[in-house]
Amino acid sequence: MLKRALLTGVPVVRSLAAPLSTSTTIAQQQQQTGGEKAKKPTIWKIDEKKREKLASFGRYAAECLPKFVQQAQFAAGDELELLIHPDGVIPVLSFLRGNHSAQFTNLTFITCVDVPTRKNRFELIYAFYSVRFNARVRVRTYTDEVAPIESAYSVFTGADWFEREIYDMYGVWFNNHPDLRRLLTDYGFEGHPFRKDFPLTGYNEVRYDPELRRVVYEPTELAQEFRRFDLETPWESFPSFRNASITSGYEVIDLKQQEAEKKQ
Ligand SMILES: *[C@@H]1O[C@H](CO)[C@@H](O)[C@H](O)[C@H]1NC(C)=O
Ligand SMILES: *[C@@H]1O[C@H](CO)[C@@H](O)[C@H](O)[C@H]1NC(C)=O
Ligand SMILES: *[C@@H]1O[C@H](CO)[C@@H](O)[C@H](O)[C@H]1NC(C)=O
Repeated sequence: MLKRALLTGVPVVRSLAAPLSTSTTIAQQQQQTGGEKAKKPTIWKIDEKKREKLASFGRYAAECLPKFVQQAQFAAGDELELLIHPDGVIPVLSFLRGNHSAQFTNLTFITCVDVPTRKNRFELIYAFYSVRFNARVRVRTYTDEVAPIESAYSVFTGADWFEREIYDMYGVWFNNHPDLRRLLTDYGFEGHPFRKDFPLTGYNEVRYDPELRRVVYEPTELAQEFRRFDLETPWESFPSFRNASITSGYEVIDLKQQEAEKKQ
C-alpha cells in the first residue's frame, strides 16, 4: 500500500508544480490560436423560420384547445410556452403527444416554481420534445397549496418521479398518481422544503443510524447556545425576492392572427 501511495504520489507532485511553469505558454497558445475567435463570441441566432413555425403551432394548439390554452408566448426569444388552465393538463398533454402535427412524445422534465406572493403560488412547468419535428415546447400551469393537479402519468409514464419530487419538495398534490410518496426526504419528514416556511434550526435533528439501519430523530445537541434566531421565513429576510417577477422578458403570441390570416 505504502509503495503504491509513494508511486502515485510522484506524478501528483509533478503535476502540482507543472501549471506554474506552463501557465504562460498556455496563455500564449490561446493568444496565438484562439485570439481571432475570442473577439467574436458565439451568439445564439434565432431561426426566424423555426420561430414562425412554433408561433403558428402555438396558435393551432390554442385553436384546438380554446378551453384550456390561455396564452401562447415565446420566452428567451424562441422558446414556445403554452400557459394553460390547471384543468387542462390531461387534454393538453394528450394533444401534444398524440396529435399528428405535434408529436411531442418525449417528456423532458416537470418542475415547479414557488412565487409566494401569488394567489396560486405554485407554477408547474412541463417540458416536451418532439423527435419528429425536432422542436421543444413548455406547458405552464398553476395551483395553490390545496388544489390538486391531475397527474400526467396516464399520458407520460415518465412523469412518475418528477411528480413525486414536486409533491415532496413543494407539497403539490397530484390526483390519480400511482404512488405519490416522498422521494428525496424521509417518509416521516414534516413539511415541504422548497416552501421555505420552516425554521432552519429547531429541537429535533435527523440522521442515518448505521447500526439501526434507518433514519433516526433525536433532540438537537448544540455545542454552544445559538438558538437566538428570529422565526422569519427566508422570504421576509430577503424582501426584494418577493417583488422579483419571473414573467419578464416574454413575448405574447397573438392568437387572433391565425383567423386574420385565414380571412385574407
Ligand atoms: C389533430 O390534428 C389534426 C390534423 O393534423 C386535426 O384535424 C385535429 O383536429 C387535431 N386533434 C385535436 C384533438 O385537436
Ligand atoms: C421519444 O420519442 C421517440 C419518438 O416518438 C420514442 O420512440 C421514444 O420512446 C421517446 N422516448 C421517451 C423516453 O419517451
Ligand atoms: C414590493 O412591492 C410592494 C407593493 O407592490 C411595495 O410596497 C414595496 O416597496 C416593494 N418592495 C421592494 C423591495 O421593492
